[in-house]
Amino acid sequence: ESSVLTDSFLRHHSYLRISLTERCNLRCLYCMPEEGVDLTHSSRLMSTEEIARISELFVKCGIRKVRLTGGEPTLRKDLVDVVRMLSGLPGLEQLAMTSNGIVLGRLLPDLREAGLTHLNISLDTLKPDRFEAMTRRSGRGLDRVLKTVDAALGLGFDKVKLNVVVMKGENEDEVLDFVELVRDRPLNVRFIEWMPFDGNVWSMEKMEPYKVTRAKVEERFGALVPTEWEASAVAKDFKLDGFDGEVSFVTSMTEHFCDSCNRLRLMADGNFKVCLFDDGETNLLKPMRAGFSDEELAHIIKGAVGNKKAKHAGMLELSKMPNRAMVRIGG
Ligand code: GTP
Ligand code: 5AD
Ligand code: SF4
Repeated sequence: ESSVLTDSFLRHHSYLRISLTERCNLRCLYCMPEEGVDLTHSSRLMSTEEIARISELFVKCGIRKVRLTGGEPTLRKDLVDVVRMLSGLPGLEQLAMTSNGIVLGRLLPDLREAGLTHLNISLDTLKPDRFEAMTRRSGRGLDRVLKTVDAALGLGFDKVKLNVVVMKGENEDEVLDFVELVRDRPLNVRFIEWMPFDGNVWSMEKMEPYKVTRAKVEERFGALVPTEWEASAVAKDFKLDGFDGEVSFVTSMTEHFCDSCNRLRLMADGNFKVCLFDDGETNLLKPMRAGFSDEELAHIIKGAVGNKKAKHAGMLELSKMPNRAMVRIGG
């Protein structure tokens, strides 16, 4: 079955992102339309058992890393059980999660104990009033997220990363403050180019290209020294002289990394998406419920992977094409 997850460009897919829920406790500007999104009826969302079955199959087919996303994954009641189940799958090497950190704090020790190895936390501003504007929720959340980042650093995760989506006119003037955070912390701050999705009112004018952010950092703190990164990584990683942490850039818009893409996505409704920017999706939940065997499911998965395109359509085209709202994809 080793070829199930290999596409027609000979890219091998070993990284699966599983979105556990479409719900979120924030309403970030760049992720969710102001009016929210229509949620899939709960009867059409994957249960704990269904996630277990399909994950086991994916790992048998060659997945080595799973990242749990949402919406906000901590809103899922069975999160710790899902983590324990996944961490027990033979062959899975990394079990990661991306969270907004709002209610993550109290779950952290259990998640770590259940086998979560890598954690990314999203935070786009260090100012409470802006936190309120950017997340459309109370600014009091900011303090909790920052405390959770420090708590996570004390729990021995393999790596803790802080995701910052840079938007011109919202938070681009806070880049240097974010870099200061990693001076005395073994934390990896990552500046992410804002990508277009349904309802997130993306515009070229408000997207800060990575080169601008990078130049700002180097002007203030000196040369960014590249570290070794995996061929399939979405981030370019750097060290700064005198800093404990690392600084990275996710350049999806100005320098895409599709040639080395190793990612697949399974969403909360059981839809399987082979590229973040391809709205062609294949539902796996219906065949599972109809009693399909693992071989039959693997055949469907193989067909979808085989149709994966070489690369995304390019910055301007992406902003016009239909896709899900980001909150229903999970990044
Ligand atoms: P690591 O596993 O730590 O490398 O994390 P990650 O970057 O894969 O995941 P995370 O959830 O932290 O996402 C960070 C940013 O990268 C988000 O903006 C994601 O939407 C974006 N991203 C993740 N995977 C892909 C991808 O395959 N293609 C593109 N274009 N962007 C991606
Ligand atoms: N562009 C870039 N990154 C985004 N994220 C959410 N929406 C967007 C977007 N439009 C990020 C979140 C989170 C990760 C899963 O994706 O901040 O860190
Ligand atoms: Fe992979 Fe599609 Fe992202 Fe390119 S845009 S890196 S092909 S998921």
